[in-house]
Amino acid sequence: MTQAKIASRGDNLKSIKDSIKKDLSRFGIESSKKDPDPCPVCNYGTRITITVNGVESSRCKYCEDKKLVEQLNVATTESEKKLQSLQAKARRFTRIPNDLNAVRLNNYKAVTNEQKQAKQMAVDFITQFDKEKSFVMSGDPGIGKSHIAVSIAKALSKNYSVLFLKSADVLGLIRESYDHGTHSERDVFSICEQVDLLVLDDIGAEYDKSSNNESWASDILFRILDSRLGKSIVITTNYSESQLEDKFGMNGKRIVSRMNDKAEKIRIFGKDMRKQ
Ligand SMILES: Nc1ncnc2c1ncn2[C@@H]1O[C@H](COP(=O)(O)OP(=O)(O)O)[C@@H](O)[C@H]1O
Ligand SMILES: [Mg+2]
Ligand SMILES: [Zn+2]
Repeated sequence: MTQAKIASRGDNLKSIKDSIKKDLSRFGIESSKKDPDPCPVCNYGTRITITVNGVESSRCKYCEDKKLVEQLNVATTESEKKLQSLQAKARRFTRIPNDLNAVRLNNYKAVTNEQKQAKQMAVDFITQFDKEKSFVMSGDPGIGKSHIAVSIAKALSKNYSVLFLKSADVLGLIRESYDHGTHSERDVFSICEQVDLLVLDDIGAEYDKSSNNESWASDILFRILDSRLGKSIVITTNYSESQLEDKFGMNGKRIVSRMNDKAEKIRIFGKDMRKQ
């Protein structure tokens, strides 16, 4: 390269620098410099320090972009994408009863010993959630079993995929799938199987023995419970194990045995809060 060419290239660089400086000054930026070391926060990006009115402040573009990704709630890794898609599906099928929409574990009043124990078991279930252990609450109506179950579902649904359904609603969703095309029977079984936590509220209240759908209903419940072997379920019921076995007829023993897989169980006694 000739001397003349080198000189003209140097001039070009200088004029580019000058024009950047002019652009920066339009925004009130007096000077801008790159830190030689990587950003101490992410240990990856380059921090740029700008001076405005004599005040220095520094930013890392990588950290800023990361914040933006978080604000936009955009999944970046495959596992995050999978979780978000499951969470969205679970939200589509979840049915939380209106009267329990605002409940929280901290507004559950534990009066009896069993209620205190149940509340503590719920706290442990949430804080030690491992996608494998289950929790079964039985007891009389109106003592807050669903209240606790909803609270657990809400607490875990931020970081996990959680599906909350009354057991009767599961059967309702399956029945709907026969009538119209918003979802298939396969969709219902598949979401029940795939979520990190399935909450089945009020098992045993879905039908009475005099109706002729008993074996259909208990077949479906068995298939769902069977598909969740080794995966977390929270179950509430007004019935004892032997009452459930009786209710579910041919599937009774199998259903109760699936319910008990890796499960902490408690039978809660207390006053019916609905009657207060
Ligand atoms: N121990 C409690 N503390 C606060 N509210 C309660 C308690 N037990 C029940 N409730 C309230 O009473 C209503 C019925 O409770 P629910 O959880 O549906 O009872 P269960 O499922 O045991 O039949 C709900 O509105 C619930 O929030
Ligand atoms: Mg209930
Ligand atoms: Zn950074």
